Amino acid sequence: MNINDKHLEEVRRDAINNAVPIIKKPKAAWLLQFIQQHKPVKILELGTAIGYSGIILGSEGGYLTTIELSHKEIQKARKYLRKAGTKFTIIYGDAIPQTKLLVEEGKKYDLVFVDFMNSQYCDVYENCVALVKQNGFIITDNINHDHSKEFKEKLTDDSRLETEIIDIGDGMSVSRKN
Ligand SMILES: C[S@@+](CC[C@H](N)C(=O)[O-])C[C@H]1O[C@@H](n2cnc3c(N)ncnc32)[C@H](O)[C@@H]1O
Repeated sequence: MNINDKHLEEVRRDAINNAVPIIKKPKAAWLLQFIQQHKPVKILELGTAIGYSGIILGSEGGYLTTIELSHKEIQKARKYLRKAGTKFTIIYGDAIPQTKLLVEEGKKYDLVFVDFMNSQYCDVYENCVALVKQNGFIITDNINHDHSKEFKEKLTDDSRLETEIIDIGDGMSVSRKN
């Protein structure tokens, strides 16, 4: 499955026009390349917004499970993800208890993409590590942001992970689980 550039641009424009924060174009391009290279089969996203990054995450036919707190954003995300042909489930709720539930259910993912409230990243840290498969990845947005400092330290100090910082915009990290 390939990305429909025109549709992706329509979603990006909608986000910009409605002040919905989404990853910017350089990060989107980097993420698309990562997805094309690694072709994750099971993907978890924390912070759906209107589905822009979700379309990219699912663009190689992987199954996207994505968590979002805002009912308003979910309506649009559902519409846009369907139009893109993404295979998906949107979980309506707070990423902190919802990821805990996924851990308790024994769920595992090839890729966990963390992009919700930066100040709450640490509250999902252990859940994310538990939810990613061996040799799977955690990608975290805004990693060089002040609010992500503690999360970044956790990632880089964690012997269970190999973490690389990608200096695009305010940074993304890619952590591979050993
Ligand atoms: C930066 S946006 C996500 C952008 C999206 N990943 C993209 O690039 O297309 C962050 C989203 O996280 C949602 N959010 C904030 N706190 C949350 C929480 N505790 N649990 C789930 N979603 C949350 C917000 O409503 C917002 O839509």
